Amino acid sequence: TRPVLIDTDPGCDDAVALLLALENAALEVVGLTTVHGNASVAETTANARGILELIDRTGVPIAAGADRPLNVPLETAEEIHGEGGIRGELPEPSPATQPADVHAAQFIVEQARAHDGDLALAAIGPLTNVALAHALEPDLPDLLDELIVMGGAAFAQGNVTPLAEANFHADPHAARRVVRDCEPTLVGLDVTTQATVPPDLLESLSESRDGPLAQSIDEWLTYYDTAHRDRYGIESAALHDALAVAGLIDGDLLETESSPLEVGADGDLARGALAVDSHGVTDAPPNGAVALEADYERFRELVVESLERYLRC
Ligand code: BDR
Ligand code: CA
Repeated sequence: TRPVLIDTDPGCDDAVALLLALENAALEVVGLTTVHGNASVAETTANARGILELIDRTGVPIAAGADRPLNVPLETAEEIHGEGGIRGELPEPSPATQPADVHAAQFIVEQARAHDGDLALAAIGPLTNVALAHALEPDLPDLLDELIVMGGAAFAQGNVTPLAEANFHADPHAARRVVRDCEPTLVGLDVTTQATVPPDLLESLSESRDGPLAQSIDEWLTYYDTAHRDRYGIESAALHDALAVAGLIDGDLLETESSPLEVGADGDLARGALAVDSHGVTDAPPNGAVALEADYERFRELVVESLERYLRC
């Protein structure tokens, strides 16, 4: 099994990504770190705790992190994910999921050191914690086996501005630092917009299941689905974060290209925009990889199988 640490801002698609990671035998989730993003960090932390309570995985450590971006004001996305950052009620957090007495950035560094080059870090929210971890430990990239990031829109349209994806737009300075210095694999809107929920999944969830978990999944997906249709005119909710986690489960799922990458940090349209120099016009060496294709059928299979396994128990 592959040790993985997930930096997250749950979030409806984060929730599905967490379920996927926590259930799949290929991964061992060594902890969750939380960050501002879809809601305040107090809310995303409560949501992460509630998700662990919901699936009875209260032994997974949590460390709470940054409550704001490095250099721009906080922006949240309740209109896409629901009040409090996630649609519906989650169980009240119990003392078992009390966050560790350490900042998420420090927790990331400690886990990377402890796993001695084997840890995969999946960052599925704004990159503030990861940038701070890199500031604490500049050798972070060498201490990790892989850094996979849900973020950026290389050739696709952005979802916050025409050029910028939400996680990059929320903290463009952190995104720039991570892209410049941490050798990430970016799983951005180029591939995640097509990682949609299988249409019959929603039906089967609402028709034939009951219990709090089935109800939560149904609420997350239905709300998120409607928000996507209304706002972006796309057919069904895109499970952005779950695709990045699926990429860690199955190494053949994503086709990536190494390229010189840069992120715009300041200015209106430049903010959070990802630039991929595929033609090598800058003469810069590649500093990361971008996913440009994905096996969506395999992805949907992974999601459906995983949710089915939870709901069977
Ligand atoms: C990203 O933004 C958030 O709203 C989602 O959870 C995902 O991480 C998609 O742009
Ligand atoms: Ca997210």
